[in-house]
Amino acid sequence: MLSKLLALMLMLLSLSQSAVDSYVNEMNLGGYLFLVNRTYSVSSDYEPADLTVPRVKGGGENTMLRWEAAQALEKMFQAAQEEKGYQLVAISGYRSYGKQFLIHQRKVQNVGKKAALRVSAPAGCSEHQLGLAMDLGCKGSMGLTERFAKTPEGKWVSENCHRFGFIIRYKAEWEEITGYAYEPWHIRYVGVEHATRIHQLDIPFEYYIAQLRQAQYALVKEKYAGKE
Ligand code: DAL
Ligand code: ZN
Repeated sequence: MLSKLLALMLMLLSLSQSAVDSYVNEMNLGGYLFLVNRTYSVSSDYEPADLTVPRVKGGGENTMLRWEAAQALEKMFQAAQEEKGYQLVAISGYRSYGKQFLIHQRKVQNVGKKAALRVSAPAGCSEHQLGLAMDLGCKGSMGLTERFAKTPEGKWVSENCHRFGFIIRYKAEWEEITGYAYEPWHIRYVGVEHATRIHQLDIPFEYYIAQLRQAQYALVKEKYAGKE
């Protein structure tokens, strides 16, 4: 049963990226469900048209996000401040293909290819190019390390970011699926509805997308049942 489910998931994951886009449009689920990882990449010239600098601590040319994600980030920073007195800091948002290329290349030079791939996406394979990912810091943890998860701010982000449409994208126990080591500081915008569902299910984004595709497949099957 489990192997059948796994085979089905792999089959669904092998469907083209455009299937997700058209499903999202067709089902009107919102337009932020793009899956980008080492299997599904974006083209070198992809740059979102609505990039904007969020008005938050750390905000600047390195922390641009797509407009809706930037608004959501501002709300999240405000809530952290108002509810807990926490001051979050934006560190790295949108990164172009070229910038990601240089970051990844530097990592490979420093730690070797295999180790680099655990922590840094090759150009075209980073969610940062989507303008939907942000790396966060706080007073006790500005270095993008696992220490962030131990800070009160990091714990708050993990428990609350879904309220603003973000998910923790790379959990330690999902490394085999996401391809990346634990990154408690990296949040990804998908919209409140999906983020809340993903938070409740506590599953990697890869599985969530696979489930949506499965649902689409079931719907299409139902629609055409008996029409042959
Ligand atoms: N560190 C994440 C995986 C990236 O480079 O996009
Ligand atoms: Zn990141």
